[in-house]
Order: sequence, then structure tokens, then C-alpha cells
Amino acid sequence: MEVISNNQRVMAALDVQGREEALAIARALQGSGCWLKVGLELYAYTGPAMIHELKALGFPIFLDLKLHDIPTTVERAIRGFVQCGVDMINVHCSGGYDMMARAASAVQEEGSKLGSVPKVIGVTVLTSMSEDQFRLEMGVQRNLREHVVELAKLAEKAGLDGVVASAREAKDIRKNTKANFLIVTPGIRPAWSDAQDQARVLTPTEALAAGSSYLVIGRPITRSEDPRQALERLWE
Ligand code: C5P
Repeated sequence: MEVISNNQRVMAALDVQGREEALAIARALQGSGCWLKVGLELYAYTGPAMIHELKALGFPIFLDLKLHDIPTTVERAIRGFVQCGVDMINVHCSGGYDMMARAASAVQEEGSKLGSVPKVIGVTVLTSMSEDQFRLEMGVQRNLREHVVELAKLAEKAGLDGVVASAREAKDIRKNTKANFLIVTPGIRPAWSDAQDQARVLTPTEALAAGSSYLVIGRPITRSEDPRQALERLWE
């Protein structure tokens, strides 16, 4: 099995609105081995051109748009994103088995044409949702943790490569899915940084120990005066 470095497990979340701001952070991180995550905010302001520019700097890219629509629409949109050259993309597991399966096969087919197949992962339950909201607003009867694990199993069955989930659920997901199933976890804070609006945080080392495959880390890196140094200090 390929051995990957800690930096290669970090996805720096470029939650900024401007092209220049995004490129400045990217240049500071160039050569470190980390991924860049482009989410809705940056994508809204810069579009696919940003993906091409960041790819040209040598980064693997996780395009975090959390697609959720009928299977045909997701399938057709995802083909376009694969053509942009992204290395990972995601859909909501709550879109259902068929949607996930169609997304997975479209990524496989489109990626094969380009000679590189991106990973496609599922969003289980947004970590911004509390247990109460989940029960009262969504009306789901099983508890949140069980629901997350069931969605992860469904995602695996549908052919997805992994899920996005809180590191708190990583252990349960690990126990219930195949060994190479990817678990991508946000809500990570090194001991030296502020929690900001993340409520339940784990350190990078704790998250890896809990079974995370990739750590999504935004502000501790991107708001630092020296993003590269912040990246290297994650493991202190
Ligand atoms: O700055 P911070 O490290 O909190 O950024 C975390 C990133 O992970 C943001 O892009 C945020 O949207 C994303 N994210 C999250 N919690 C989730 C899913 C995504 O914080 N459940």
C-alpha cells in the first residue's frame, strides 16, 4: 500500500472569495503535498477557471459542492466537474442510493476517458446539525450516529469511495465499512489555534487516530500569516 505523508492527508479549505486571495494561499502551500478544498463560496465567485489555475500549481483538488438533486441532473453535472480535472467531489448521501450510484459510475466513466478517476464521496449529516434539530426538524427516528453509519454503508454499497463526517463518528464508520473506505473530516483544530465557530473539535493527531483518512482544515492554515508554517505545525 502506498505510504502517504501527514501533509498529503491535509485538505486546506480555501474559504475566500477572491481569486488573488486564493492564489496567494495556494502559492504559500505549493510543494507541501497538501490538497486544496474549493467550496461553494470560492466557486461562486471564481467558477471552474479557479480549478484550472490551482491544478496548474500542482495541487490535488477536492471540489466540495455537496451535490443534491435528481440522479440525472447530478450525473450530468458531475461529468462536467470531472472534466475540470478535480481529484475529489462530493454528493449528499440523502439524495439516495440511485443518485449516488449514478454519480459513482459517471465519475468512473468520465475519469477513465481522461486517464484519471477522481474520488467521489458522500456527505452523511452536516455536522452543523444538532441531535435535536435532526429529530424535531427532520423527523428522523433513529439517532444521529446510527443514521450517519447507515448512510455511510449505503454510500459504500452505491460505489462511493468514502464519506465526509465528523471525526467523532469516524470510529463507528471504520468498523462498518471496508478498510480503504475514505473518511474525510472537518472540525479539526491543532492545540495552538482557536476553535472559532467549530464546536466539537479534535486535533489533527486525534483525528488520524480516530480513523480519518483526510483532514479538512481551513482557518488555522488560511488565516495564518504563514500558511506553510501553520501546516507544518499541525502535528505539534
Ligand atoms: O476554517 P475551518 O477549519 O473551520 O473550515 C472547515 C471547512 O470544512 C469549511 O470549508 C467548512 O465549510 C467545512 N465543513 C465543516 N463542517 C462540515 C462540513 C464542511 O466545517 N460538517
